[in-house]
Amino acid sequence: MIYKKWIILVFLINCFLFVQSLDKKGIYNDNRDSGKSLVLDGKSDYLSSSIIIGFDTFKVIIDTTLNYLIVAERKCDGCTQYPPYYRESQVFENIQCDSPACHSIGNTCDKPNKYDPPTCGYETKLQQYGANIKTILYRDIISIDDFKNIPVIISAIYEQSNGLSLNSAILGVGPSCPTCPPSPLQSLLYTLKKPYIFGISLDKNYFGGISIGKIDPLLYTGVINYTTMSKRDGVYSVSPIFIGSHWNDQIYNSTRNDIKRFIISSSSSLSYIPTSPYKQLKQFIKSAGCKSGDLDFCSKIDSLFNSCINSSQISISRFPDIDLYFEEGFILTIPPKIYFHSISRNNQVFICMGILESTDANAILGINLMRELYTVFDNEKTLIGFSRK
Ligand SMILES: *[C@@H]1O[C@H](CO)[C@@H](O)[C@H](O)[C@H]1NC(C)=O
Ligand SMILES: *[C@@H]1O[C@H](CO)[C@@H](O)[C@H](O)[C@H]1NC(C)=O
Ligand SMILES: *[C@@H]1O[C@H](CO)[C@@H](O)[C@H](O)[C@H]1NC(C)=O
Repeated sequence: MIYKKWIILVFLINCFLFVQSLDKKGIYNDNRDSGKSLVLDGKSDYLSSSIIIGFDTFKVIIDTTLNYLIVAERKCDGCTQYPPYYRESQVFENIQCDSPACHSIGNTCDKPNKYDPPTCGYETKLQQYGANIKTILYRDIISIDDFKNIPVIISAIYEQSNGLSLNSAILGVGPSCPTCPPSPLQSLLYTLKKPYIFGISLDKNYFGGISIGKIDPLLYTGVINYTTMSKRDGVYSVSPIFIGSHWNDQIYNSTRNDIKRFIISSSSSLSYIPTSPYKQLKQFIKSAGCKSGDLDFCSKIDSLFNSCINSSQISISRFPDIDLYFEEGFILTIPPKIYFHSISRNNQVFICMGILESTDANAILGINLMRELYTVFDNEKTLIGFSRK
């Protein structure tokens, strides 16, 4: 009996030491904060997810071209969002007009109503959403996924003019710049002492996740190909040296002279290239597609560029891949199943071209082209990475 008790005691001590050593090695810690990826809602208009602001759950647009957390106040003049509206938590703080924080972040000293003292605000035009907004800045807490009660700066809209499209809060994950505030994501990762890295993983139907503060090996297969990240103008962009395609003896190509950069925009549903390369691409697809003498197919290609086509009337597998060549020596291939997308109307499926003509000299890589990819934004090394899902 004594012998048995002795064995059990040794066993228990060993268990205890084992657990302790696991803890020292950080295995438990890793499990605790490895965090699932922030789940995306599968919207095809923009990346969308949910976070907790104060104590309420909000749908947010995850926007790589902004770096604020923007949410409507309950009493907002002209706002187009649905409830919930921003309510300060118990720990909120206003930002004083004369504080250094206000000088670096805000551009106004506002008095949104006659009862409260003036406080730091921010006024801006959100190009993408066509909305002019006036906001009050607060320090308050948010929770993203497993990361709870993180202090960030919140821009609460009290007045909106123009634009009916801003129907959700916005979580800016754009690059930081010397004159702009830390983005909410940057504050979160700084607070948690994690690297300023995130990655967007999307499947064909826009479902996926965002890894925060790390590269998640579960979200990709093979290698991650990295290229230089530009943060010019407060947006992430990449510059392929050459874009090319080859089909039925026809060649499409464009260089950096034609397309200087692709802005990576998670709030753009479609992608855009400037006028001249766009016309060239259209001509290439038309002449290569019609060369086979297939007149029926030929006429359909024409209408593809103007509108969407009944999916039963065109086979996208007959179209070529478009290859983006990068300085670092890798190629990002965009197959037709990605640059075309389908929409459903009245139980009919239509196929539409997802690369359109840009209104300016910038090309935009929207979420349609981020499908079936894991796109890594490594702000530590100023690199953007692409890998297959
Ligand atoms: C680019 O395309 C043109 C034809 O449009 C072709 O003559 C030229 O060789 C191509 N350049 C490269 C590098 O492929
Ligand atoms: C799409 O094509 C199918 C099959 O050819 C046809 O039955 C249907 O009416 C078409 N729909 C439209 C809206 O043209
Ligand atoms: C990475 O680069 C290699 C070599 O060009 C290529 O085969 C692979 O498809 C690339 N992966 C992605 C996701 O671009």
